[in-house]
Amino acid sequence: MTKTTYSDLKGRVVLITGGASGIGAAFVRAFAAQGARVAFLDIDEAAGAALVAEVAAASGAAPLFVPCDLLDIDALRDAIVKIHRSLGDAAVLVNNAANDQRQALAEVTPTEFDWMIGVNLKHVFFAVQAVVPQMQARGGGSIINMSSVAWMRGAPALPVYAAAKAAIVGFTNSLARLVGPDRIRVNAIAPGMVITERQRRLWYPNEQSIAELRIRQAIPDAVTPDDIANMALYLASDASQRVTRQCFQVDGGLG
Ligand SMILES: NC(=O)c1ccc[n+]([C@@H]2O[C@H](COP(=O)([O-])OP(=O)(O)OC[C@H]3O[C@@H](n4cnc5c(N)ncnc54)[C@H](O)[C@@H]3O)[C@@H](O)[C@H]2O)c1
Repeated sequence: MTKTTYSDLKGRVVLITGGASGIGAAFVRAFAAQGARVAFLDIDEAAGAALVAEVAAASGAAPLFVPCDLLDIDALRDAIVKIHRSLGDAAVLVNNAANDQRQALAEVTPTEFDWMIGVNLKHVFFAVQAVVPQMQARGGGSIINMSSVAWMRGAPALPVYAAAKAAIVGFTNSLARLVGPDRIRVNAIAPGMVITERQRRLWYPNEQSIAELRIRQAIPDAVTPDDIANMALYLASDASQRVTRQCFQVDGGLG
């Protein structure tokens, strides 16, 4: 995998939600390797602690891990204040945490609907609300919101998740207009099929289930967490300084 060095990311404060595992962990590793000062939030304390140790050993600098349930907006706000006190103004926010629980339409209760919106959308808005003043104070920043191709392709098992992931693109477009005058750029990334540990365990248990979807990609190779991280690095860096209000599909051309 080609690794580009973005010298402007060195020393920048990068805040990542859901950074303990999956694509989020690839973000933590990739930004730490650039010399950024990385903080991440996650509910999974064991995975978060293990990643801190791994990254510290690899890069010589430990990322700041703040355990947090993003369903609790007060806890999210407290965590962002804590990170701000430790590291200073955030230059980059990656809204990554999500949960792609499958659901049958008839079985979604109002409580479950609220939970799905809470874990996939609500914290995205409130993380942005808390971090934008920091970006304004430093004269700019980059916000990267994780969407999904699920809502574009029409994923029948993911009605609420797809609604939340589509809403994230609407929010991205609106926010980009709102904070563009402050030199804050806002973009979304829509991954295709990325086989993380959780995806393998829950939704793609065997090679055949993976092959059935991969055959619909224009490029036959697996899309990896590093592929998504490479797009995030570009969007975080000044290399993309005139790029905003976009949603980038990183899916191998999935159709
Ligand atoms: N993997 C894919 O194929 C794929 C495809 C399209 C979009 N995406 C998107 O990419 C992003 C990362 O996906 P992933 O596959 O790595 O997911 P994942 O489930 O492997 O990881 C999500 C992370 O978020 C954390 N998290 C979940 N709920 C939380 C909560 N309430 N509070 C704090 N942390 C919480 C988890 O502990 C985990 O570390 C998500 O936004 C997802 O929707 C992934």
